[in-house]
Amino acid sequence: MANLELDLFLCRTDNFGVLVHDPESGATASIDAPEEQPILGALKRRGWTLTHILTTHHHPDHVSANLALKEAFGVTIIGPENEASKIPGIDRTIGDGGHFDFAGHRIDVFETPGHTAGHICFYFPDDKLLFSADTLFALGCGRLFEGTPAQMWASLQKLMALPDDTTVYFGHEYTQSNARFALTIDPQNEALKKRAADIDAIRARDEPTAPTTLRLEKQTNPFLRPQDAGIRAHLDMRDATDAEVFAEIRKRKDNF
Ligand SMILES: [Fe+2]
Repeated sequence: MANLELDLFLCRTDNFGVLVHDPESGATASIDAPEEQPILGALKRRGWTLTHILTTHHHPDHVSANLALKEAFGVTIIGPENEASKIPGIDRTIGDGGHFDFAGHRIDVFETPGHTAGHICFYFPDDKLLFSADTLFALGCGRLFEGTPAQMWASLQKLMALPDDTTVYFGHEYTQSNARFALTIDPQNEALKKRAADIDAIRARDEPTAPTTLRLEKQTNPFLRPQDAGIRAHLDMRDATDAEVFAEIRKRKDNF
């Protein structure tokens, strides 16, 4: 099994596009399809031909190029069982605990409701790659459009159970503003302070903050740290449940 090759690029204003390519078979998947032209540009630059779209959720900024790319390449679109009727051109649905094969690479699927009711994440266990889309961001998590804080916390815990050295690709370049918010929740966290400075330098060079790792998120992302004593003291929530602390952090972010 050859190592997968990845190509990351920006779409629309702050959506990440990602192509996953297996050099042996030539199979190439787009993780979501936010915008046609940047995806075509990345394919051309690499000399790859698109074979699959792996859809995480139904929001227009994740599916808007589905039909155009299907027409151009005849791709197979695989997406969430619980949002199938809202995914243009979907060929195969998959739900929680499901898995399938991509050019000899296993892909496990986790349903992570919260941002949308049927959002799924794709995990490549042999490659230690997670595509978390709008569930988990660098230093953030998705807004709760169709779910409760308790649902989102349960979804994030599924992802936190994966190995710490998992490489995580996420849906939006929100990291710099997420860092500013994170510092208001976890101001004593030295790893977070250092990371926020690193992020400022990366963005000043106009480079992307993706990918991240699960280890770094567990150390610095306040949405994964409701159990942390420092955060609990700062929020004056020492005796609350993790889900309650998570809900408070999410509420503060909505008003940030
Ligand atoms: Fe979304």
